[in-house]
Amino acid sequence: MSKPLLGRHFITTQEWSVAELELALQTSWDLKRKFYRDEPHPLLRDKTLFMMFFEQSTRTRNSFEAGMTQLGGHAHDLTPGKLQISHGETAEDTARVFSRMGHGITIRNCDWGVGNAFMRKVAAMSRVPVLNAQCDLYHPCQALADLMTIREKFPGEVRGRKITVSWTYAPSYVRPISVPHSEILLMTRFGLDVTLAHPPEFKLQPEILAQAEANARAAGAKFETTDDMDAAFEGAHIVYPKSWGCLVHEPDREAAVQHIEKYPDWICDERRMQLAAPEAIYMHPLPASRGQEVTDAVIDGPQSVVWDQAENRLHTAKGLMALTM
Ligand code: CP
Repeated sequence: MSKPLLGRHFITTQEWSVAELELALQTSWDLKRKFYRDEPHPLLRDKTLFMMFFEQSTRTRNSFEAGMTQLGGHAHDLTPGKLQISHGETAEDTARVFSRMGHGITIRNCDWGVGNAFMRKVAAMSRVPVLNAQCDLYHPCQALADLMTIREKFPGEVRGRKITVSWTYAPSYVRPISVPHSEILLMTRFGLDVTLAHPPEFKLQPEILAQAEANARAAGAKFETTDDMDAAFEGAHIVYPKSWGCLVHEPDREAAVQHIEKYPDWICDERRMQLAAPEAIYMHPLPASRGQEVTDAVIDGPQSVVWDQAENRLHTAKGLMALTM
């Protein structure tokens, strides 16, 4: 296998060309076929991935760990408590050590104003690729798996399909804004018409919105924003309703939860699905707050593709590792 992306960091999809992202998707599909045929594919035999998870994860951590096993290598599941980072060892020094011992580093750090900066410090000192397992700004692995899923559900050209990325109610905790950021960045790049819907307090970062607008212009696609969830659902081929925090507007987490409480009617239910196109699919990166973000009837219904999305996290994680490590 030729490796034009060997050693490349994957921190945001914006830093990879469309051709490079296409290669990642094609490699992921190839590995998915091999997985289903039970065909061995030890592309990373004897290689080591260091995984630093500062927060909980079901899909991302296990897609990388299972993926490394299936590719013939091994992943170390690390948390700050297992590392000298908890005693103040720097990101840069940790990167130097892991670079001498293994072949890749993946990091989840969603701490607002901290996570991406931490990852950039590791990447600056690392001789091996750093793969973003979600930070405060981006979740590129999720977006790549979502694009793979959309293409599977709409074979042929996805250009011109309308995707609605909508905020939803979920007061249990303040979720990162990295998923909506990465969705609007990647989908505009691939020519989908993106509508972003949220109450006024739940704005995304202005720089990311400007990048999404520029992506849409370059791809000949549309990028629109609205504070009307119903209007955003009208005619959509893909609905992607999920909760995120109002961290741009209100960085204080307790105050942020009070803003969420103002909008309990921002839920994806059967009535709203009826507003979308008849062939519309429902997407969510998971975990979903059932009864708050989405009704059981929708997430368990025939339009839901959430388990395909979750599965594609494995295949895309493997594609990214196989290409970069
Ligand atoms: N979608 C996603 O990133 O899930 P986890 O938080 O379980 O990794």
